[in-house]
Amino acid sequence: MVVSEEIIVRIREANDIVEIISEYMVLKKLGNNFKGLCPFHSEKTPSFIVSPQKQIYHCFGCGEGGDVFSFLMKIDNISFVDAVEKLSKRANINIPHKLSLHNDKSLRERKTLYDLYEKAMNFYSDFLLHEEESVLAHKYLKSRGISSQIINKFKIGYASKRGDVLLKKFLNKGFSVDLLKKAGLISFSEKKKKFSDFFWNRIIFPVFDAQGRIVAFGGRVLDSGLPKYINSSESMIFNKRKILYGLNFTSSRIRESKKVLILEGYIDVLTGYQYGLENVVATLGTALTKEHINILQRYAEEVVIVFDSDNAGISAALRGINQLIDSNLKIKIVSLPQGMDPDNFLRKKGKEAFDNFLKNSLSFIDYQFKIASKDVDFSEVEGKIRVVNKILPMIVQIKNEVEKREEVRKLAERLSLAEETLLLELSKINKSNKFKTKEGFLSDYKEEKDPLIERDILQILLTEPVYIKQVKEKICVNDFTGEITSQLIKYVFKLASEGKEVSFHRVMDYFGDEKINQIITRMILNEARMRGNKSEILEKLLENMCRCKITKKRNELEKEIKAMLSGEKEKDLNKLREYNDLTKQLKGSQRELRVL
Ligand code: UTP
Ligand code: MN
Repeated sequence: MVVSEEIIVRIREANDIVEIISEYMVLKKLGNNFKGLCPFHSEKTPSFIVSPQKQIYHCFGCGEGGDVFSFLMKIDNISFVDAVEKLSKRANINIPHKLSLHNDKSLRERKTLYDLYEKAMNFYSDFLLHEEESVLAHKYLKSRGISSQIINKFKIGYASKRGDVLLKKFLNKGFSVDLLKKAGLISFSEKKKKFSDFFWNRIIFPVFDAQGRIVAFGGRVLDSGLPKYINSSESMIFNKRKILYGLNFTSSRIRESKKVLILEGYIDVLTGYQYGLENVVATLGTALTKEHINILQRYAEEVVIVFDSDNAGISAALRGINQLIDSNLKIKIVSLPQGMDPDNFLRKKGKEAFDNFLKNSLSFIDYQFKIASKDVDFSEVEGKIRVVNKILPMIVQIKNEVEKREEVRKLAERLSLAEETLLLELSKINKSNKFKTKEGFLSDYKEEKDPLIERDILQILLTEPVYIKQVKEKICVNDFTGEITSQLIKYVFKLASEGKEVSFHRVMDYFGDEKINQIITRMILNEARMRGNKSEILEKLLENMCRCKITKKRNELEKEIKAMLSGEKEKDLNKLREYNDLTKQLKGSQRELRVL
């Protein structure tokens, strides 16, 4: 990151967090703070708090928290650099040239790509609308029933048959062969020994990211030729695992209805939209990924996955679905009748029939049961065991306890087994899961593991840094033993000893870590824990901490002394003296060393 700390602070101060967050969700005033339904997990009563004074947010439901930058990163799925750039623009703050983000090579390259794709989109779209050569393309779109409103909205275009129209035009505009090639708009033909357009004689579908920037193109043939579609290859701005086609147009409707339909193709989204299904998206010929799910979780509570009925499609999409189960999303699955996809279902039978058909959707577990029990003989015990072994590990992952119990009940009924038997099996799986360790920094860190007293001291220091001196006199960094608390106190003391101002924003900026943001924002906004005179509370906390330290040392000495008395160790009077000193220090502890 090339931008100075000072500019980050200026940009943060110039963008009010309440204003920014309000652009994404409804916030209601509550005392000094604002409250709303958390956009990062599904909930019915609001636990998402935004503090205008502190300029942070924290969700007491799911633990998300941070400042205005981390909010944008999370909700728009963008990098820190992008968030800084967005907010600097919004506040009209010029990032000084020398420090400019545009010194960041990758950002500059990305911007170049976005700009180029925008121009390419306009080029294909103009070509479709204005060139005589496009009659066949229009004819094709008409034959698919795609309206001109949809063509305009989704910026559909056409790539000429001639195969070098874009190349010539863009070279004229001053773009280099190199860039056009890198962007995947042209390619080199070994046979013809020259460059030509990558897309030719194809309907062009621009692929947008959630912010509406074009990140790729898909091109469809006008007939039954193969391959049916070609797509831009992945690039620094295009990652299939993260892109949901249509989301930029449908996200607001998804948020309103809290529900999203996941379809399989470009055309399905267009037709769906045209028929008034405005909460649809499609993956780009890939299985649903963890990333897709994380994105959808921000908008929806319920996901309906609509499969074409061909089996290849089902198993492809299912690969991703296992990831859905441990998200907070409610998942439903529906497969369309043989040989149908949403596009031709809607066209043949209409929206009402489609809506009705969706009522056949199954819950995730029901769907899995249907698949697992195909060709299984339930009169054989082995058959039942096989199904139980498949389904129970999925039930284990359901977060809602009521729902979990209900699924166990259903499974028991279906297999004519006692519910208790299944519950017993379930608890076995639960136990074995506990020992699974996850990888990655802090991923399995439990805040509660760090001593409460250390967290309390930090809570005071981070909200009221004036007390740092008082703390520094009594304790040293090594007295903190928690995994995170020790890192935090170290940095706080370091800032103080360098004479720098200590603020929680500064600490969060320094670590730049999601988990640490969450811990700090919770400390800061959890004021209820710290009512009263901070200085007095702190004095008590410090006293307790010293006590703990002394007790610990004294216990160690006690062990050694016992070893001396039993003759296992040589006698050492210094140790005895030290022990008595510590005992005296522990006011209130009257136990004298009777062995003397
Ligand atoms: P489909 O074959 O279902 O295409 O592939 P479709 O969207 O329904 O299009 P029509 O109705 O046949 O015109 C689903 C998606 O898989 C990807 C595309 O994203 C497509 O929308 N795909 C399919 C490819 O990338 N390449 C292909 O050759 C085929
Ligand atoms: Mn189709």
